[in-house]
Amino acid sequence: MKLIGPLMWEHRLIERMVKILEKEVVKIKETDKIDTNLILVGIDFFKTYADRTHHGKEEDILFRELAKKELSSEHKKIMNKLVEDHVVARKTVGALNDANVSVANGNKRSIKEIVSNLENLVALYPRHIYTEDEAFFYPIMEYFNKEEQENMLEKFWDFDRKMIHEKYTNLVNDLEI
Ligand SMILES: [Fe+2]
Ligand SMILES: [Fe+2]
Repeated sequence: MKLIGPLMWEHRLIERMVKILEKEVVKIKETDKIDTNLILVGIDFFKTYADRTHHGKEEDILFRELAKKELSSEHKKIMNKLVEDHVVARKTVGALNDANVSVANGNKRSIKEIVSNLENLVALYPRHIYTEDEAFFYPIMEYFNKEEQENMLEKFWDFDRKMIHEKYTNLVNDLEI
């Protein structure tokens, strides 16, 4: 198993969710109606899977180890931009959630904010994933030896193992407030 294998699989699932939301944007524009449940599922997917589970492995393991290396200025520049994208994605999902709550509370005017945040998300992810898949993940493997790659892959699995417990512990914690 290659280190970047799990990240690539995760990209393929994120792309599938992006496609679903792309279709939803078209539907919302046609009907001016929101499927609040679908938006909630999308928000949960982007928070728990795309951000916490996927960006988590990139930022907390791969990029962290990469930052210890003598990176070329080009690779440093790409990594900073990728981290910046993660921040923007997080903010956009937060804004999408706020707009969704607002619509659920009867503020129809917030539909346009749902649309604009969805449009931003479905534009950002394919571009971001393309950069990682085509211009970053393969070349940066050169900075790591076999043992370092294997250690990181082990850390990926450990990271994933914790995710389901973290998600539902947080869920119960939130309900207890
Ligand atoms: Fe990323
Ligand atoms: Fe990624």
